[in-house]
Amino acid sequence: MKPKQLIAIGAIATAATITATLVLSPAAESHKSVATVDPASQTLRQLGARHGLYLGTAVDMAALADADDPQYRDIVASEFSTVTAENVMKWETLEPTRGTYNWGPADELVDFARANRQRVRGHVLVWQNQLPGWLTEGVADGTITNDELRDLLKKHITDVVSHFKGKIWQWDVVNEAVSDPWDTPSTIHYKGFWAEHLGSEYVADAFRWARDADRNALLFYNDYNIEAFGDGSATDKTAFVYEMVKQFRADGVPIDGVGSQGHLGTQYGNYDALQVSAALKRFTDLKLATAFTEVDVRSELTDAVVDGSSSEINPRLQASAANYSALLQACLSNRHCLSFTVWGFTDKYSWIPNWSDGQEGLANIYDEDYQPKRAYNTMRADLAFSGAPYVQPRIPQRPRR
Ligand code: G3I
Repeated sequence: MKPKQLIAIGAIATAATITATLVLSPAAESHKSVATVDPASQTLRQLGARHGLYLGTAVDMAALADADDPQYRDIVASEFSTVTAENVMKWETLEPTRGTYNWGPADELVDFARANRQRVRGHVLVWQNQLPGWLTEGVADGTITNDELRDLLKKHITDVVSHFKGKIWQWDVVNEAVSDPWDTPSTIHYKGFWAEHLGSEYVADAFRWARDADRNALLFYNDYNIEAFGDGSATDKTAFVYEMVKQFRADGVPIDGVGSQGHLGTQYGNYDALQVSAALKRFTDLKLATAFTEVDVRSELTDAVVDGSSSEINPRLQASAANYSALLQACLSNRHCLSFTVWGFTDKYSWIPNWSDGQEGLANIYDEDYQPKRAYNTMRADLAFSGAPYVQPRIPQRPRR
């Protein structure tokens, strides 16, 4: 079966995507016929390869380097065909001191990926979080003017994309540029540090600068809460992002894809695969690729959950699995959904408990002891049993009398 990359060429059809496809050879996985596959004996990356779909994880570089925790490294290598730096490609890590780059940890991940025949999603070129102190403080105290800030952003994108040129499959060029319905004002708008200082034009500029530095990497806009369309009103974030990227396509801005993060919570109910696949279709009808880029499905840690009550925990694990499955099935339904990345695979290193002050957790597909959870097996079943061709059973001939 052709990898999705190759199938996607026709539709996306920019010189950049074509070259990227040809330059980066797909992770070599053996193809097994759908009829004979035994999901229990296959890894996520093997099962994904049957569809040309890349299965990925965010990687915590401290965990990867921890000699006392070899299981982390083993699972990253064996289960996934694409990796994303959870933190080490962010500006605060890459340039902690103005003008002095710290490429080491990010280069390590790129080397690890190459050794394990994995593709790398670059995360992230422009985001309002995890910026270096020298930058935000300089802007705050007026020593960095807005004109200078724009030049610094262009330099950052150019330097980083050039450094990794030829090694990054998809770049998250701009991340989370759009507000949420609960922000003020309560209509959806461009938000944050960059829009405040540079105006909304920085988004298109960032794509142009990234393309100038590497014509082969696929360039993505990445955001959360865009898994499904809402009512199309002024509070519909997915619709806002859709209109933004549609305008980019019309204006010739070099964007190749939209990344839907997929940070979900079981307390908010279950997505269904149909509504998610409908959203993917609208984006890919614009001749854009899509990807799920940061999937995790958290739950509230009530006292009963913390005390280990199975009647409290099991429904959460089921709901979590159902949400992973809805996103994965939607991705499988769309030939231009190129990759499905989980935001860490084990609860051991999840960002959720820290972010929620211990109120939420259980978000990943393995538990803290690396035991696969229901979500992991549901994903394997989705990958194994999706797309099976119907095979006419052979009807035994009855002997003639
Ligand atoms: O680097 C310091 C370290 O020096 C210090 O000892 C340690 C003590 O807590 O903190 C370290 O920084 C932490 C950093 O992760 C690296 O581990 C920060 O406190 C922590 O806030 C930071 O969290 C990251 C978060 O982005 C920041 O917003 C998460 O790990 C990371 O998973 C998360 O990822 C984002 C995506 O990039 C974009 N989409 C949303 C997603 C979840 O927030």
